Amino acid sequence: EKIERFRATLLSWYDLEKRTLPWRINNDPYRIWVSEIMLQQTRVDTVVPYYLNFMKKFPSIQALAEAEEDTLLKAWEGLGYYSRVRNLQKAAIQISEEYNGEMPRDPKEIIKLKGIGPYTAGAISSMAFGLPEPAVDGNVMRVLSRLFEIDADIAKPGNRKIFEAVMRELIDPYKPGDFNQAFMDLGSSICTPKNYHPELSPIAEFNASYLNGTWERYPVKSKK
Ligand code: ADE
Repeated sequence: EKIERFRATLLSWYDLEKRTLPWRINNDPYRIWVSEIMLQQTRVDTVVPYYLNFMKKFPSIQALAEAEEDTLLKAWEGLGYYSRVRNLQKAAIQISEEYNGEMPRDPKEIIKLKGIGPYTAGAISSMAFGLPEPAVDGNVMRVLSRLFEIDADIAKPGNRKIFEAVMRELIDPYKPGDFNQAFMDLGSSICTPKNYHPELSPIAEFNASYLNGTWERYPVKSKK
């Protein structure tokens, strides 16, 4: 079936081309969570050294919960958006008090934690716990809009749900974490906002906008 060929094609490409990144070495929910928070407003190459230092200083949820504020802020210096690290610690305290120090496995619980929205909850659920949850950010919306000629405006926050529904159907139930990260890697390497060359994509044969010659119209994105 087509959807199975799509999943197999994307996952083979990911297996061959995936970047070696320090949050991809295991499935520790804490490591994945911290990486996703850092990556929200900061590029991968910038994040890596901060991430390695942060993991050394605060290797566990408990260490983060107990950290002194000045050491914590110091480790974040240069990343900006300090509310991110303050929320990270608040959530770590929440996890130690309400969940015995362990990240909850239920996406509905994960999303209740301070600083964690639908994207991050989906990323943790799929990558750490192997649950078929979508992790849809702007990059994933761009990839999906081109793949399926989706006309929903990706700049409208309310439209994220449309893309999540598509992703729920599409996601590989056996390797949801790799599947989500394959979309992220595709969005940062080939399916870029500018200089997009759809013929170079590993999933070109499935790309409706490429096949129909409409790819220059996607994503639909209104100016803010
Ligand atoms: N951007 C956000 N999350 C990412 C991840 N897990 N891998 C690569 N880039 C990302």
